Order: sequence, then structure tokens, then C-alpha cells
Amino acid sequence: MSDAVGISSASAQSKRTLQPQAQGLFITGTDTDVGKTEVTLGLMAALQRCGLSLLGMKPVAAGCVLTAEGLRNEDALRIQAQGSTLLAYSAINPYAFEPPIAPHIAAAQLGVEMQIEPIKTAYQQLAAQADWVVVEGAGGWRVPLGPGLTLADLASALDLPVVLVVGLRLGCLNHALLSAESIQASGLRLAGWVANRIDPTMAAVDENLTTLREWLAAPCLGVIPWLPAPTPAQIADQLVVAELLRA
Ligand SMILES: Nc1ncnc2c1ncn2[C@@H]1O[C@H](COP(=O)(O)OP(=O)(O)OP(=O)(O)O)[C@@H](O)[C@H]1O
Ligand SMILES: [Mg+2]
Repeated sequence: MSDAVGISSASAQSKRTLQPQAQGLFITGTDTDVGKTEVTLGLMAALQRCGLSLLGMKPVAAGCVLTAEGLRNEDALRIQAQGSTLLAYSAINPYAFEPPIAPHIAAAQLGVEMQIEPIKTAYQQLAAQADWVVVEGAGGWRVPLGPGLTLADLASALDLPVVLVVGLRLGCLNHALLSAESIQASGLRLAGWVANRIDPTMAAVDENLTTLREWLAAPCLGVIPWLPAPTPAQIADQLVVAELLRA
């Protein structure tokens, strides 16, 4: 388990004094499967195009495959591959669980209690090695991590501006407004939102976008069309990161 969750190497490295230098972003979404990973990779690619070095994290991943090297999650592997430096897997994904279920339930099944501190240590190690670190959440904003602890608490502990990925489908307006309200209630800044056309059959897309622009008190960083096989470069083409660089 220690290999799978990577805690031992994180705590050993935490003994060194590391000064975080990077700017960071926490990527959340209106739900699971709304395109957080695609947007995370796209934002990394867009910022890399500006000449910046990028690293990414998927601190909590439920839904992993057991390999000879340990548990591996597809999101985390893609984020690892997009990084400007190739880091050890455990540095990117400190908590990895095999079943694709709510992470706190997967953790409880193993008798593991997730803690913020090892994730913070891992984040600081990445932040010392890049200009920007992009952290992908899991599911939506208030996904539980354990008793009294949610992903929102992790984002607060990391003190990161948040990017909300709105998966454009019926029901997304309510999810987007609730998420934005909760992000702001956590005392964090909504740095921007990205509309992602995950449902090519959705009706009244323009009207939904108008509503989101009116109601969300943050810049729209891009509207991603439905893409048959999205790549980080294609997503980056649709993103405007100038607002992020100015902040
Ligand atoms: N704009 C798009 N066009 C077409 N397919 C998309 C688009 N955005 C995302 N997808 C696809 O939708 C699926 C879910 O996307 P993604 O894995 O990025 O979601 P997620 O929010 O990161 O999910 P999770 O909560 O599991 O981390 C993937 O197969 C992805 O390739
Ligand atoms: Mg994902």
C-alpha cells in the first residue's frame, strides 16, 4: 500500500526545506466525467505554449489498474506525461485506489484515512520544480475524502485559485451555480470557468452559455466544442489563458 499511495517517499522528501515558487490552479467540475482531465491537459498545454514549465497532479484517484509498478490511474498517467519534467508516479498521485467508486469509500474499504498533509507536501515538491502546477480534483467540488473532509478542504489547504469545468448538458446550470457558490464560500477565488461540450446533442447551447456568462462572476476561459478524440493541443487552441497570467 505504501507504494500505491506513495506516502513514504513524500514524507521522506518533506524533511527537505522546499520553497513553493509555482502558481497553481485547482481544476474542479460540475460532476464526474465532464472533462476535467481534458481541460487540465489543455491548460497545461496552453501555458506551456507561453514558455512556462508545467507540472500536474491528480492527488486522489479512484479507478486504477494494478500494474507491476503499483496502482496506476489513467488521468494521473496523462497528467504525468503532459508535465514539463517527468516525475515519479507517486509524486503526482499520492492516493490511488483500485475500484472506480467514491474515493472515501475506496479508502475506508482499505482502512486508509486520507490526510491533507501528504498531498500538500507532494504539491509543494511539484511547486518547487515548475512555473505552474495544475491540480485535478476528483468528481465535483464537494466530493468527500473522509470523515468531515472534502476535496474543497484540500483546495483550501493548498490555497489555490479554482477553475470550474462546466460539462454542457441539461442540468449543468444548477450544478455550475452551486459549485461556484460553494467555491466562493470556501474563501477561494474562482479564477475562471471552461464550458465543455460533452453532449453534442444538447439543445439551446448558446442560451446556456449566455446564462453562465451572466451568472458566473468569473471569466470564461474557453468553450470547447465536442471533439471526436480530444488532444491537449486541440483543447489548448480553445483556451484563453491571458486572464490567468494577469491574476
Ligand atoms: N469536448 C469533448 N469532446 C468530446 N469528448 C470529450 C470532450 N471532453 C471530454 N470528453 C470525453 O469525455 C470523457 C470524460 O472526460 P474526462 O475524463 O476529462 O472527465 P473528468 O471530469 O476528468 O472525469 P473524472 O471525474 O473521472 O476525472 C473522456 O472520454 C473524454 O475524452
Ligand atoms: Mg479526470
